[in-house]
Amino acid sequence: MLSRPKIGILGSGKGSNMVALHQAVQEGRLDADIALVISDVQEAGILEQASKMGLKHIYLAPGPYRTKLDEQAELSYLQHLQGAGVQWVVLAGFMRILKGEFLRVFHHRVINIHPSLLPSFPGLEAWKQALDYGVKFTGCTVHLVDQGIDTGPIIMQQTVPVSEEDTPQSLHARIQQAEHETYPLAVQKALHSQLKIQGRLCTAEEAG
Ligand code: GAR
Repeated sequence: MLSRPKIGILGSGKGSNMVALHQAVQEGRLDADIALVISDVQEAGILEQASKMGLKHIYLAPGPYRTKLDEQAELSYLQHLQGAGVQWVVLAGFMRILKGEFLRVFHHRVINIHPSLLPSFPGLEAWKQALDYGVKFTGCTVHLVDQGIDTGPIIMQQTVPVSEEDTPQSLHARIQQAEHETYPLAVQKALHSQLKIQGRLCTAEEAG
């Protein structure tokens, strides 16, 4: 039987990826325990969902900056995650950049999902960037988080077709369906195979 690493989930939005991860845990597709859910947005749907599902959850103030955690907030996030025994941090729509001490403590153990085929369209509203550019395919990418913005080694990707009738909303909805399939698979792979990281490249070997 596979071990059950403890994961901490961070999110700022409605929490549909967290729900997909929780369902995968329930259905035995993801061997992990969700030990803690943290949001930087007090009224975020992800906290409401976590509460409905009986998961331990907490709002932690992010500090004064718009795009990152301040030093004190970062420390408090770390303390809560470590206090809950978290071994892997899984970002599910967490809209702040993690840097420095956080990435040192969880080195190669922070996973993110991004709504495009990276390296195309990093940053905000990637589905809108894809539509504006006129690509015929986009998708989602699961990757390890490094010091850059959406630049870390790629674990898994899934493509999504763009239709001529798409609006930003319809395209994001289709990408989210792909995210909900891919994220549990990718997290399972990260947690239960030996990831070998060489520069930007990430390969997985079956754990012995
Ligand atoms: C997801 O589409 C995720 O890929 C995106 O936020 C959404 C969160 O949705 N993340 C980013 O854009 C990070 N750069 P959810 O709250 O329903 O999971």
